[in-house]
Amino acid sequence: MGITIRGTGKFVPEKILTNADLEKMVETSDEWITTRTGIHQRHLAAADVATSDLAYEAAKQALDMAGIKPEELDLITVATVTPDMGFPNTAALVQKKLKAQKCVCFDLEAACSGLLYSIEVAHSLLLANKKYRKALVIGAEKLSSIVDWTDRGTCVLFGDGAAALVLESSDEIEGDFYIAGKLAADGNYDNILRLPAGGSAMPASHETVDQHLHCIKMAGQETFKLAVNAMVSACKEVLEISGVEPENVAWIIPHQANHRIISAVAQRLTISDDRVYSNIERYGNTSSASIGICLDELNRAGKLKKGDVVLLTAFGGGLTWGAELIRW
Ligand code: UT7
Repeated sequence: MGITIRGTGKFVPEKILTNADLEKMVETSDEWITTRTGIHQRHLAAADVATSDLAYEAAKQALDMAGIKPEELDLITVATVTPDMGFPNTAALVQKKLKAQKCVCFDLEAACSGLLYSIEVAHSLLLANKKYRKALVIGAEKLSSIVDWTDRGTCVLFGDGAAALVLESSDEIEGDFYIAGKLAADGNYDNILRLPAGGSAMPASHETVDQHLHCIKMAGQETFKLAVNAMVSACKEVLEISGVEPENVAWIIPHQANHRIISAVAQRLTISDDRVYSNIERYGNTSSASIGICLDELNRAGKLKKGDVVLLTAFGGGLTWGAELIRW
């Protein structure tokens, strides 16, 4: 039995917020945002669009590429920190929109590492149990709904978007796309990147709204340093486990949080710039969607050849981080 990535998809909303637009909202400049982050613009969903709507659009594209009907799916997962609501889970809302009747649905929250965590979970289920043959793995975020638009330290960073992968296991498939993975977490750093209110620890109240506690809080510099070290060490570990040399990696797709982080990670792994995929200038940080959006762009541009080894790496709130080596 083999397991493969049958299809990919992505969706970003039409509306674009440029750095020039942000200059009118907070005390910032295009120059600061561009040099410190690499971001030029981000896409924002309309008020009546929820994360499941973005996920649904990406899912349709991935299913279409895979040639798989929604009713054939055994599993839908949505990695997100911006679910439509407390419950039902976003995956179930996507299931409803797709009319995918017979599948198991759950959300997975591992912040910006969510898609990597989901790939590992879905792959493990497909590997372990023949009940699961066709899985839709989604990373989707409406981060604009949890951004504090008065905080220049964070509001310039994030955007909305979704990405989807269709995984399939079958006796007819040869080999396994998943070569090796290293996932990690350290809850001791829960304070440096979080959305404090709205859960059981701090339920919503007038005070939490007044104090913008339903928004992303981040200690940027500390997160930056930890991100580089954690992603480099996870990548080194998966390369070592799998016996793959950095020069044999066709593409590295790092989570799109900051172009300086992306460059630092690639440099320390000795992966040349021409093999680093980045689109942060167009979308900003879309958290659990970012790696999937990159993968879909590479795939649809015909830049992934059969057999290519691709290194995915992510870092986010939790803290959570990891790396996965996949074969196209
Ligand atoms: O996706 C999850 C993981 N997230 C990350 O990995 C993000 C990691 N962190 C970062 O990408 C960077 O730390 C930031 C882009 C968030 C910030 O860049 P930085 O180079 O670390 O800047 P800083 O926070 O040290 O701030 C430098 C200065 C400060 O002013 P003073 O104190 O030196 O006068 C800030 O107040 O830049 C100021 N600043 C801004 N100025 C203009 C902060 N935000 C802005 C802004 N526009 N938007």
